[in-house]
Amino acid sequence: EIIEGSGYTIMPSFIDLHCHLREPGYEYKEDMESGMKAALRGGYTHVCAMANTKPVIDNIELVKKNHDKSKKLGLCDLTQICALTKNFGKEYVEFKEIMQETKVFSNDGVNVNERETMERALAYSKALDFLILSHCEPEVETVRRDLDILKEIPGNLHICHVSEHETINIIRLAKDQGIEVTCEIAPHHIFESEVDYKVNPPFGREQDRKALIRAIKEGTIDICATDHAPHSKEDKDQGAPGISNIEVAFPMYWKVFNENNLSLEKLSEMMSYKPAKMLDLNCGEIAVGKEANLVLVNTEKEYLMDINKFISKSKNNPFHGTIIKGEILMTIKRGVIKYDNR
Ligand code: DOR
Ligand code: ZN
Ligand code: ZN
Ligand code: ZN
Repeated sequence: EIIEGSGYTIMPSFIDLHCHLREPGYEYKEDMESGMKAALRGGYTHVCAMANTKPVIDNIELVKKNHDKSKKLGLCDLTQICALTKNFGKEYVEFKEIMQETKVFSNDGVNVNERETMERALAYSKALDFLILSHCEPEVETVRRDLDILKEIPGNLHICHVSEHETINIIRLAKDQGIEVTCEIAPHHIFESEVDYKVNPPFGREQDRKALIRAIKEGTIDICATDHAPHSKEDKDQGAPGISNIEVAFPMYWKVFNENNLSLEKLSEMMSYKPAKMLDLNCGEIAVGKEANLVLVNTEKEYLMDINKFISKSKNNPFHGTIIKGEILMTIKRGVIKYDNR
């Protein structure tokens, strides 16, 4: 088949290091099928799903169950993230066994507030070679503590959804000192500041947003993730934090990158190349011998975000009706068209 793409841009498809697909337990907010269809609409062919489900994903059976289901669905590729500890407690999960299924662990919704718990987790991450997605922002002091630990105990640490100028300062200093650590942002935190909408970390002040943009320019931020957090209307009304954004993450990011003279190449690196490297995937760039995971984009199109067009079961996004830039026309996974909006 010949795909007519003149005037459009072909890019490596996107890889989301951090989203919530809500399976098992919260399927009324999202399930793997709706979440992955939304992800494909957003240009993603690989997503990493957080472990704060019901029950929490803290053993190999639950990780494998989601991996098996995603293979059957044949939509996006899935990395199921596993909790660091069992059932929100202090006892570690069976790292070695679970590593047959996943190499990514997280403390999202899990209690690793004690320094010692994090110290040992970081030591394990180095010894066994797994990645820890640390969910500590907006607790700036916890970021400081974890980077402090890293000076003594090297580990594979990634800081989720950086939103605070102070966190950026801490990470920049650590990187300048040669400490190996990576971090990500979510689109909403650079899109707008001081929005009255519940999300964790909360919307920052304008100086935080500006600091995030500067940090992208100077290379302190490694990854553009989504933190796609779908919630039903009822749950939002009860105060559940989070934003449904996986299908509009690219146009949210691209609008801000554009306004700040940040290049499409830079965004591609942060949405595809770097997450692929972190996850050891054979994609994330357009090159001979790499998987043909591609996205066709109209980078010039400006339009209003419309939550009524969301494929996601949840429409919780405060930017309905605001201008975003860049439209996904097609998403291709390993040479097969998975989303087609021509
Ligand atoms: O806003 C958020 N929603 N932040 C989080 O850290 C968790 C997420 C969720 O699971 O809904
Ligand atoms: Zn601040
Ligand atoms: Zn979070
Ligand atoms: Zn999250």
